[in-house]
Amino acid sequence: MSVYFDKQTGIFYLESNNTSYVIKVNRFGFLSNLYYGKKIAREDLSYTEVLRDRGSEVAIYGAPERKLSLMGMSNEYPAYGKGDFRECAFIPQSADGSRVFESEFEGYEILKEKPPIDGMPSLSGGETLVLKLYDKISNVRVKLFYTVYDDVDAIARRAEIENLSDSPLMLNRAYSFNVDFPDGKYRVLTQHGAHLREREPEITPVMHGVISVDSKRGATSLHSSCFAALLEGNADEDHGNVYGFNLIYSGSFKLNVEQSPYDTVRVNGGINDFDFSWKLESGEKFSTPEVALVYSDGGVGKMSRTFHDLYRKYIINPRYVNELRPIVINNWEATYFNFDIPKLCSIIDTIKDSGINMFVLDDGWFGKRDNDKSGLGDWTVNEQKLKGSLKTLIDYCHASGLKFGLWFEPEMVSEDSDVYRAHPDWAIKIPYRNAAPSRDQLVFDLTKKEVRDYIVEAVEYNLKKYDIDYVKWDMNRNITENFSDGLPADRQTEIMHRYILGLYDICERLIKGNPDIFFEGCSSGGGRFDPAMAYYFPQIWTSDDTDANERVKIQYGTSLCYPLSLMSCHVSICPNHSTNRTASFATRGHIAHLGATGYELDTTKINESDLGQIKGQVEQYHKMERLILEGDLYRLENPFEGNYFGFEVTSKDKSQSVITCYKTLDMPNNAVKRFYPKGLAPDAVYLIEETGAKLSGSTIMNVGLIPYFPWSDFATVVFNLTRVK
Ligand code: DGJ
Repeated sequence: MSVYFDKQTGIFYLESNNTSYVIKVNRFGFLSNLYYGKKIAREDLSYTEVLRDRGSEVAIYGAPERKLSLMGMSNEYPAYGKGDFRECAFIPQSADGSRVFESEFEGYEILKEKPPIDGMPSLSGGETLVLKLYDKISNVRVKLFYTVYDDVDAIARRAEIENLSDSPLMLNRAYSFNVDFPDGKYRVLTQHGAHLREREPEITPVMHGVISVDSKRGATSLHSSCFAALLEGNADEDHGNVYGFNLIYSGSFKLNVEQSPYDTVRVNGGINDFDFSWKLESGEKFSTPEVALVYSDGGVGKMSRTFHDLYRKYIINPRYVNELRPIVINNWEATYFNFDIPKLCSIIDTIKDSGINMFVLDDGWFGKRDNDKSGLGDWTVNEQKLKGSLKTLIDYCHASGLKFGLWFEPEMVSEDSDVYRAHPDWAIKIPYRNAAPSRDQLVFDLTKKEVRDYIVEAVEYNLKKYDIDYVKWDMNRNITENFSDGLPADRQTEIMHRYILGLYDICERLIKGNPDIFFEGCSSGGGRFDPAMAYYFPQIWTSDDTDANERVKIQYGTSLCYPLSLMSCHVSICPNHSTNRTASFATRGHIAHLGATGYELDTTKINESDLGQIKGQVEQYHKMERLILEGDLYRLENPFEGNYFGFEVTSKDKSQSVITCYKTLDMPNNAVKRFYPKGLAPDAVYLIEETGAKLSGSTIMNVGLIPYFPWSDFATVVFNLTRVK
C-alpha cells in the first residue's frame, strides 16, 4: 500500500520507502500540495496552510477573508483565469471563448493496477490514485493520476481531460503536472546541447520569474532535455535534497520553474503549448504524457540512480533490459555511403575472431542512396550498389560468427525518391510554399494513417524477408511548416502532438510486432533521448560525436537521468571525425565501455596494434557488462568542472566495482590526483585487480585510489575491484 486517505482531514498521503507526497482537498474545494520530500509521519499538515492577506492580489471568490488569494496557495493542477497569475497547468477554452476552469474536488479512486495511457508509452506499475476535479460551468473533468513506486523513490503523474459538455472544448494548454514548493532557496539543473554536444548540464539560481526549457522541434531534440531538477540550498552531487522531473514524452515539450513574489516555487510542464491547441469534441478525452518525479536526499547522484532504477524496472522492455547486449561493429564512420559487399566483407574479415558479434549496416543500402540527398522512403535493397544481394552479406556475417543489423530512417522521405514522387502529399509541408531544407529530406506526415501503414509495410517487408536481428532506427530532421492537408484548419495546431502519437503507433506496430528483433534508437546522434523512446529502444545512440574527450561529457550529462545500458558507445577512428583529436585506442575503449559498447571504424585501415587490442577490450567488457546493465552509477569527477572524469559502477550487492578514471590534459609536475569511490561496502575487503592490493571499502572510499595515468592527454586508468571478504 502506498496511498492513504484520511477522510477526516481530507488528506492523501503518497508514500514510497523514503518519500512522502501529501495532498489536501482544501476548504475551497481544490487540491493543495502540503508536502513533498523525505518520508514523514502520516500526520495532519493542515497547519501549513497559512492563508495570508495578500493585499492587492485578486481574492478567492466566496472566501470570507476578502484578500485571500490563490497566489499564496499551492495547487496540484492550477488553471488560468481566477487570480493565480503564475504559470498554470491548464488553459481550456469553452465554445463561447471563455477560458476558465474552477476545479472542485469531485472524488477519488484507488486503482489496483496502473492503467496504460492510450497511444502513449508510460511506466508500468501498480496502485494508482486518481483524483477527480470538475468544473460545473464548463462541464469539464480533469483526472489526475498518481502512481507511487514504493521500491524506488519515484512518483508518476499525468492528467486526463474529459469534455462532458455538448460543445467542443479547445485545450490551449494541458500540462502533465504541477508541483508547488513552499519556500526555500533553490537552484535549477537543466540541460542544453547541440549536434555532437548533447545534454550539457547547467545550474542556474531559481529567480523571481520563470525559467523554462523547451523544444519546439517536434522531438525532444539535441538542444534540450525534457528534464529539470530543483536543488535545495547547497545540494550537490552527493548531498542535499534534489527533486527531479523527467517527461515521458518524445515531442515538443516545456518545463517551467517559477518563483512567485511570495517565494513559493512552482514546477510544471508537459506538451509544449507553443503553437499547440487541441480540439476536444463533446464526450472525448485527452491524455497528457506522463512525468516521472524523483526525490533524493542524497544529491544529484542519488537522483540519477533512482531514475536509472525506475527506468530499468518500469519502462525499458523487460525482455531486453538485463539481456547482454550485442557488441556491434557499425560501418557508418568506416565507409559513410561509400561501400559495397566486398568492402564490408573485408571489414568483417578483420574482426571475425575478436568477439564482436553483430555487424550493423548503416545508411545507404537502399533505393538511390549514394549520399544523403535521395532515397529515403524507398526501402528496397540497392543490389547494384551493394554488388550483390543483402542475403549474401547476411550469410557472410553468419558464417563469420556475427549477427546482422540494418539501419532505417522510417519517419523520413527524400524529395528525390519514388515514394515521394508517387505521394508528395505524404510529407509534412505546405503545398504552395518551399519546404525549409534540412539534410535534403522531409518528414513523413505521421498524422495520416495511410502513411503510417506504408512505413510499417515497407520496413516490415525487409524484416520478414531477411534474417535481421537488430535495427538501428534513425531520425535526422526536425519539423517545420507543420501543416497537414489531412486535418482541418482548426486542428493544424495539433500536428506536433499527433506526429508523436503517429510515431508511437508505428513503433508499437514495428517494434512490439517484431519482439525478437533488438531495436536501437538514434536521432542525429542523441536527438531523441527520452524515457518514452526508452520504452521502445533498450539502447539509444548517444551522440555522433565519438571523440573520447567529448564522450566523457556527453555520457556524464546523459547519465543524469538515463542508465548506462541505454547509451550506445562506440570506439571510432582517430583523428576523430568530429574533433580531429587523437586519443589512444585504450582510452577510446575504456570510455566506450561505459555503455552498450561497439566499434565504428574501418578495421582494414587501422594499425596492427590497435586491431590487436579489440579482442582484449571485448574480453574486458564481458567482465563488466553485467555492471553496465544492472549496477549503480557513482559519478566521481565532473569533466565540466575540472581536468578529470570518473565513473564508478558498482553491483547492487557491492561485490564488484569498476572505476574508470580519465584525465583530460596532462599537467607536468602537478598534484597527485586521487579518485574517491563512493558506493562500496565500508567493511568489505576488495581486491584491486590492477595493483594486487587488498583494501577495505572504507579505506578505498576515504583514502582514495591513485591512478598512474599514461603520460599523455586524454588518458585513462581503470580499476577492477572484487570483494574478497
Ligand atoms: C545520423 C546517425 O546519428 C549516424 O549514426 C548515422 O546513422 C547517420 N545518421 C546516417 O545517415
